[in-house]
Amino acid sequence: MASMSIVKVAGVGKSFRGLHALSDVEFEVAEGEILGIIGPNGAGKTTLFNIVAGALKPDAGQVAFAGRDVTGHTPDRIARAGMVRTFQLMRPFASMSVLDNVGLAAQHRRFSRRKLREHALDVVERVGLGPWAHRVSTELPTAGLKRLELARALAMRPKVLLLDEVLAGLVPAEREPVLDLLALLREQEGVTVLFIEHIMAAVMRLADRVLVLDQGRVLALGSPEEVTSDARVIDAYLGEEPTHADA
Ligand SMILES: Nc1ncnc2c1ncn2[C@@H]1O[C@H](COP(=O)(O)OP(=O)(O)O)[C@@H](O)[C@H]1O
Ligand SMILES: [Mg+2]
Repeated sequence: MASMSIVKVAGVGKSFRGLHALSDVEFEVAEGEILGIIGPNGAGKTTLFNIVAGALKPDAGQVAFAGRDVTGHTPDRIARAGMVRTFQLMRPFASMSVLDNVGLAAQHRRFSRRKLREHALDVVERVGLGPWAHRVSTELPTAGLKRLELARALAMRPKVLLLDEVLAGLVPAEREPVLDLLALLREQEGVTVLFIEHIMAAVMRLADRVLVLDQGRVLALGSPEEVTSDARVIDAYLGEEPTHADA
């Protein structure tokens, strides 16, 4: 790969009371690349994000971001450096408006109040929540909460976005604009995206490469075509859960 790797995961291991959630996980992601991460439930996908984003310390191995070792750094420090994750379960501040929730995520940027508001509004519109900007976040339907979660991440101006099942719970018509937005972010701003996703159609469409995790190990890493035709991947994941192909 010609471009520099912006994320490098080397020899990462993590156990929970004897359960090997991750074992010797290694991969690199190039700047501007979109990496899909798939694997059965319990494969270690979210644990991997927790380690990359600093929420968990690995028992072994390192995570580097933009050439710097960030292993064990706090989530806050990693996010401010430019690597930002979304959560599988959304947790906005319930009593606040959509706009304020997004503004809060960008607060560390020391904008003036007015600039912060403009920036937040810009991001809110970008994810298609413009009409909801002044509504209380708890009024949002699932698709809206997902967009809000994405907006809060985008408000931090990430260089690397870690997305944990942002399409789950969305109907196909709601997924399209999210996929379009992610493609646009990469195209226009060179944002690198790592996304955990069960919906294979989305993985096939968006990912440059796909990392397959199974029982905490890297089972395969390659183009979407390569991994989906890999017999081990079909055995471990695709064959076993056919409903995921169009879920
Ligand atoms: N905080 C935790 N404490 C104990 N076990 C955990 C914890 N987080 C994850 N696990 C376990 O680690 C394994 C991997 O989980 P997870 O990373 O959530 O998988 P995935 O996101 O691929 O479904 C599972 O067996 C899960 O039960
Ligand atoms: Mg998970």
